[in-house]
Parts: sequence; C-alpha cells; structure tokens
Amino acid sequence: MPAEVLAALRPAPEQTYVDATAGLGGHASLVAPRIVPRGTILLNDADPSNLARAGPAVRAAAPEVRVLTRQGNFAELPHVLRGMGIRADMLLADLGFASSQVDDPSRGFSFSRDGPLDMRLDPTLPMSAADLVASIPESELARLIEEFGEDRHARRIARKVVQARARSPIVTTAALAEVVRSACPPGAGGIDPATRTFQAIRIAVNDELGSLEALLGHIEREAEQLASGTGRWLAPGARVAFLTFHSLEDRPVKRSFQRLQALGCTLHDPAFVAATPEEVARNARSRSAKLRSVTFPMK
Ligand SMILES: C[S@@+](CC[C@H](N)C(=O)[O-])C[C@H]1O[C@@H](n2cnc3c(N)ncnc32)[C@H](O)[C@@H]1O
Repeated sequence: MPAEVLAALRPAPEQTYVDATAGLGGHASLVAPRIVPRGTILLNDADPSNLARAGPAVRAAAPEVRVLTRQGNFAELPHVLRGMGIRADMLLADLGFASSQVDDPSRGFSFSRDGPLDMRLDPTLPMSAADLVASIPESELARLIEEFGEDRHARRIARKVVQARARSPIVTTAALAEVVRSACPPGAGGIDPATRTFQAIRIAVNDELGSLEALLGHIEREAEQLASGTGRWLAPGARVAFLTFHSLEDRPVKRSFQRLQALGCTLHDPAFVAATPEEVARNARSRSAKLRSVTFPMK
C-alpha cells in the first residue's frame, strides 16, 4: 500500500525514517527521496538476507540519504535506537513475511513447494518449525493451532501430527501439509486445509505476537515519556504506522492505538485504510491488509 503508507508517514526533508520490517526495502525506497537533504534511514529486519538486499535498493533510490542497517527483532529496536542516539520522525512496521521468504522453498514457509520445515524469519533463532513439531505436547499444539490458526479442526490435526511423528519425524513442509490435510474434511473449494496450521506454527516459531506486543508497549511508554518531555527514540510529532494482515495482528494494534490516543497522540482518520481493489488484484496478500497510523504530540 505504497501511497497510503506515504500519506500516513508524511516524509519531509531532513527527517529520520525507521523501518522496523525493511523486507526488500520497497517502502523505504519510496520514503528515501522525500527526506533529502540530510535524511537518515534505519533499516531493520530479522532476516539478514532481506536486509542485504534492502540496503543497496534504498541507497540506489536516494544516494544522498544516510542508510543504516540493523539485523534483529523489532522488539529490541527502541533500545538500539537509544544506543545509536537516533530519534525517529517516522516508524513503519509492515508485519509478517515477505514474498522473498515464502517463494524460497528452502526457508520452509510454503506448503505448495516442498522444503525443510524451517519457517524462521531469523535463521539464527534456536528452534525451527521441525523442532517445534517434534517436541510440542499434543494439547499445546492443539491450543496453538486453534489460537494462532483459528482452525476448528485443531484437536484432530494435533492428534494426527502426534501419531505421524511417532512413526517418523516430520521434517519437510510437504510432510506436515499431508498430515494436516489427512485430519481435515476436504474444503468446499476454499483454502488449503494446511494454511491455518502453517500460519499458527510460523507465528509460534517467530513469536510474532509477542514481538508485536513488545514493540507496541515500547511505543506506549515512549508516548508517556514524551508527555513529560523526556522521550528518547521517537521525535515529537512522530508518525507511527502498522500494516497488519490478520485479526490476531490487527487487534493488539487497535487496542494499543486507543491507549496512545489517551496519552495525547492523534489517530489518523479513517481509523484504518484497506488496499484498493487494484492493489488486491495485483497482490493477493493485500486483500486482508489494514494500515493504522498515529501522530505523536509535538511536545
Ligand atoms: C511484509 S515484509 C516487509 C516488506 C517491506 N515493507 C517492503 O516494502 O519491502 C515483512 C518483513 O518483516 C520482517 N519481520 C517480521 N517480523 C519481524 C520482527 N519481529 N522483527 C524484525 N523483522 C521482522 C520479515 O523478515 C520480513 O522481511
């Protein structure tokens, strides 16, 4: 949602943009030419291979801009910014995964193309999806699929997974997808039954909701600090935007933004923006996207 993101962030010369989820640098490349002269961009991503592509793309978009990169979870980003002495005028978190990750079978996100059952956005994380599937108790797996996959067949899927792993370890995406499908009645022309379980396991492996809550908590604390004149990593008047792709992501953002409003921030109108039909036709994933944004007070 490039135009919508730019409208929410309102980049201006000399400003500092922090991209919590740089991906391949698409949004940052649009912001970069709008913050010259003397603009700064910090690109953050959990995935070092995306970050390695984002840096050159953003530098090419505006060679005058100072571009910094940092690999890691955005939950620690405020701490990093304070350490670097950077205060952001704009912060964007475009949640979830990038097409570069899903399209690469070796990353293990895709059930339509076989690969190792990995799913780590940050390959240095200690536990892959295969490790999780091998060790998680049945009841915990059922809870996870129900909560993070919102799948009403969660218990049956968990039982099948536990039976299958007792026969042989589940170490590929095709093997896991097959087990899930065997537990579900065929969908009536709907989505692949493996979709929800894969989403649930991906969320768990990467602690996606925990990371989101942590970042939102940091932003709320910063709003409190700014109100007392002691903000440390967001500038007065900063614009903060989140792009979410399902209700498990959108709900905490919406609640946090209500608390930010109570702390003096201005919620942008309308409360959220969805992708245009043209964008949905170009990019199916944008169908469920919601952009929420807020402006911090000037003092
Ligand atoms: C939808 S893509 C971002 C695309 C980007 N806005 C662009 O224009 O190219 C999401 C990115 O966020 C990263 N990511 C997801 N959760 C993260 C987290 N907790 N910390 C850091 N990066 C994360 C993923 O590795 C992925 O590269």
